[in-house]
Amino acid sequence: MPFPKNFLWGVSTSATQIEGAYDEDGKCLSIWDCLPKGKIKNNENAKKACDHYHLYKHDVALLKELGVKCYRFSINMSRVMPFYEQVNERGLEFYSKLVDELLTNGIEPMVTIYHWDLPFWLEEMGGWKNKKVVKYFEIYTKAVVEKLSDRVKYWISFNEPACFLFNGYVQGAHAPFIKNPLLISKISRNFFYANATVIRTIRACAKQKPIIGLSFNCGAKVPVNESKEEIEKARKVTFETKSGILSNTWFLDPILAKKPVKVYGIYKVSQKTCDDCYEDLDFIAINNYSPFSDYTSKEKPTYEWSNMLGWENNGKGLYWTIRFIHERYSKDKPIMVTENGLCLKDQLEDGKVHDSERIRYLKEYLLNLERAIDEKIPVFGYSYWSFMDNFEWAEGYEPRFGLVYVDFESEKRIFKDSAYYYKDLINSNGAILKDEGYGTK
Ligand code: FCB
Repeated sequence: MPFPKNFLWGVSTSATQIEGAYDEDGKCLSIWDCLPKGKIKNNENAKKACDHYHLYKHDVALLKELGVKCYRFSINMSRVMPFYEQVNERGLEFYSKLVDELLTNGIEPMVTIYHWDLPFWLEEMGGWKNKKVVKYFEIYTKAVVEKLSDRVKYWISFNEPACFLFNGYVQGAHAPFIKNPLLISKISRNFFYANATVIRTIRACAKQKPIIGLSFNCGAKVPVNESKEEIEKARKVTFETKSGILSNTWFLDPILAKKPVKVYGIYKVSQKTCDDCYEDLDFIAINNYSPFSDYTSKEKPTYEWSNMLGWENNGKGLYWTIRFIHERYSKDKPIMVTENGLCLKDQLEDGKVHDSERIRYLKEYLLNLERAIDEKIPVFGYSYWSFMDNFEWAEGYEPRFGLVYVDFESEKRIFKDSAYYYKDLINSNGAILKDEGYGTK
């Protein structure tokens, strides 16, 4: 039995991507509600999304039917802090009801404090460029933890800092759509302080012992073969090349090892920041979709298999990400995969969605995860991205990552074939992974 007995099989979502109700019950606009024209594919927006805010009970019933042990969702900061220090009780109430509904149905809630929805007023103060964010994150986290921690144990402080900082302020691809590489050190420093504050606030205010992680978007170079030399080469690419440093080392070294980082001689995380901000995490949360690619030229690489956004699919990437991180940072720190999944242009056919490619993806990635567990790496959970189709940020609604299909007009939800497969996978605690014919109809 490679998967441990209480393995946390889960699915993940985030507030902005599914909730809708963008201006209800006292919520203020977030940076994802104030979208300059032309930034989102087909000019779409998240105002209604999956309308989960109104349909949450129905959605929890679906989670129960799916059989997940754990549900990772995020709190929309703009629901809780619509106006400077003022906390919006009605916003908190929604999450409190959601937590109750989950627990009543035997599902463990895992709460992400921040999954990218900064209140617009805070962005107008400079957002991540302004160190005052730290103070606002403290007030916000305290309110959330005081409200939910009697029932919530698992916390994720931040989702994918590399994404929201670099996509948002360096590449201009995500809200607030700023393009300025010179901001890298400053916004990262503010983030490191905010993260430390969030973790300390959870620990100080929680009503039961919290279990805290941070979801890093990280990856690895897959060794060409498994000889010692090739493994060392791949490890070097993973942590020491320029792309490896910015996507992995820049955040992992300071947070997990209190180690400063320098890139290109101009960007740095100082030892002081590392010392001031160090807080031992209870677990390492890994979001992984693709391995590091080999290509160095500007040409678009061709992969054997990729998703509709051009991201390479390769389950070995997940194994090597877990293994390299485990070996570099801590041999006994528990690990959970908090995101991994495939987007397709799924279509309804006679009321069904035949997404055999997603089933293939699940098998390949989970067999690689199983290998890590077999080799005694303490992985205690896996949460598929995503529970249901949703607003995929700048890509709009076209890429469908869900196990559950959503008709965005009627808001009807339909289990895809992969949802039934995942349900059976959970029921067998992973045993059917080895069953060759299973799930390939
Ligand atoms: C991750 C994000 C998540 C979703 C997936 C596809 O980077 O955390 O919100 O968009 O990618």
